[in-house]
Amino acid sequence: MNAGFIGVGRYVPEKVVTNFDLEKIVDTNDEWIRTRTGIEERRIAGDDVDTSDMAYEAAKQAIDHAGISPEQIGLILVATVTPDQPFPSVACMLQDKLGATNAAAMDISAACAGFMYGAITAQQFIATNTYDYVLVIGVEKLSKITDWSDRNTAVLFGDGACAAVMGKVSEGRGILSFDLGAKGAGGKYLYEDENKHIIMNGREVFKFAVRQMGESALKVVEQAGLQKEDVDLLIPHQANIRIMNSARERLGLPEEKMSSVIAKYGNTSAASIGNALVEELENGKIKDDDLLVLVGFGGGLTWGAIALRWGK
Ligand code: UT7
Repeated sequence: MNAGFIGVGRYVPEKVVTNFDLEKIVDTNDEWIRTRTGIEERRIAGDDVDTSDMAYEAAKQAIDHAGISPEQIGLILVATVTPDQPFPSVACMLQDKLGATNAAAMDISAACAGFMYGAITAQQFIATNTYDYVLVIGVEKLSKITDWSDRNTAVLFGDGACAAVMGKVSEGRGILSFDLGAKGAGGKYLYEDENKHIIMNGREVFKFAVRQMGESALKVVEQAGLQKEDVDLLIPHQANIRIMNSARERLGLPEEKMSSVIAKYGNTSAASIGNALVEELENGKIKDDDLLVLVGFGGGLTWGAIALRWGK
């Protein structure tokens, strides 16, 4: 049973914070941020909008796009490291808000690789015929755990949500292969401290990301029995344009075959891959039967990648 994406959605807050805005609150500058990360602006959620609110907006879109009713969903998986509160889970809050009364619900903590962890978990339940539809969300309100006085991290992140209804798709389409992994020994390089702030060793995370993104992307292409040249679009976790380009170069792809929306949204962690996917669909850059490679990495350390033949 092939599992694929039946409907997708996203939500980003309206408020835009530019690099120039950040220059006023922390010792940084637009030139540094643009050249070292590729980021120009990011969206930040207001105090009255929490993680579950963004998840709900993205989820509604994905459900509408899929043309199903909330009651048909068998499982809700919400990937986030910034839940409204430790429990109940964002997935349970969402189950209630959506009226998805038949769904089991849980959160996944895999940081920026969370959407990949969710999609691959969903695939298992669909492939075994356990659930017809699984709702997978990647959502993050990182602004609430950002230390706005730390220029190492404050310039990188943005808020947002992405959603996918996953279900059975026709032969040859959907997830063709996946790679999922973790390296707990590297957890010390990126974590939330006791003051509820993100602490990061940028250089160590960078080194890990460059190696792992390329390796994982290549692995899923090979596992699917395909060649690098077959890839129509690489959708990497939008963390840093230099990391993204290194993965693209590992696959030998030209610039136009990589999705890059980082300039507009920054690093939205679990929301980043799905947000980029929806933007490329809106741009008309994804057609049925295109081969997509989605790949992410994050705190944990974690990683995940899928080779995906687009279409229902
Ligand atoms: O989703 C996963 C989340 N994490 C990541 O993806 C992060 C991965 N790492 C990175 O993207 C990069 O390591 C950073 C963008 C965080 C940093 O870039 P870098 O090229 O590794 O810079 P660096 O940390 O080596 O710093 C170079 C210089 C330093 O100054 P000195 O020591 O050379 O005088 C920093 O103090 O840049 C300085 N610097 C800044 N300057 C202006 C660091 N942050 C800033 C800043 N504005 N925001």
